[in-house]
Amino acid sequence: MPEVSNSPSETEAAGERFGKRLRAGDLVLLTGELGAGKTTFVRGVARGTGSTAPVASPTFQLVRIYAGRVQLAHVDLYRIETLSELADLGLDELLDAGAVVVEWGDRINERDAALVQLEHLEGDRRMIRVKRDLRR
Ligand SMILES: Nc1ncnc2c1ncn2[C@@H]1O[C@H](COP(=O)(O)OP(=O)(O)O)[C@@H](O)[C@H]1O
Ligand SMILES: [Mg+2]
Repeated sequence: MPEVSNSPSETEAAGERFGKRLRAGDLVLLTGELGAGKTTFVRGVARGTGSTAPVASPTFQLVRIYAGRVQLAHVDLYRIETLSELADLGLDELLDAGAVVVEWGDRINERDAALVQLEHLEGDRRMIRVKRDLRR
């Protein structure tokens, strides 16, 4: 069901609910423009997976790992320029070790992945749509 968030904390709460359902091997692609709330959503996802580490934008790092009930790899493809950088990510290894959430996930073509779309409405309002849910 599409959900309207009225604040960063509501987006985080939506992420946390989603994160609680994650298991190793789950791949979640996030779409939405800059400022749509992808990183904010991931902050909640990380809490849902049992991590207490601070979540920052991995824009300059490509991937950050958070330990928890299930390991969460947080990937940001914003600055990715070549397909070989994508290969260097080692997505398969990350999925073996835990769940993976990807900002700018539309740059990956992965039909088995869950797909969450964040959309900036006006002001602090964001639309959160689970376009394709986790495969269970
Ligand atoms: N309802 C909301 N959900 C998420 N972020 C919001 C919301 N309202 C305002 N914001 C602000 O919008 C920005 C979202 O940034 P961020 O999560 O980094 O987006 P992205 O990773 O998609 O670029 C933050 O500054 C956040 O405080
Ligand atoms: Mg971001």
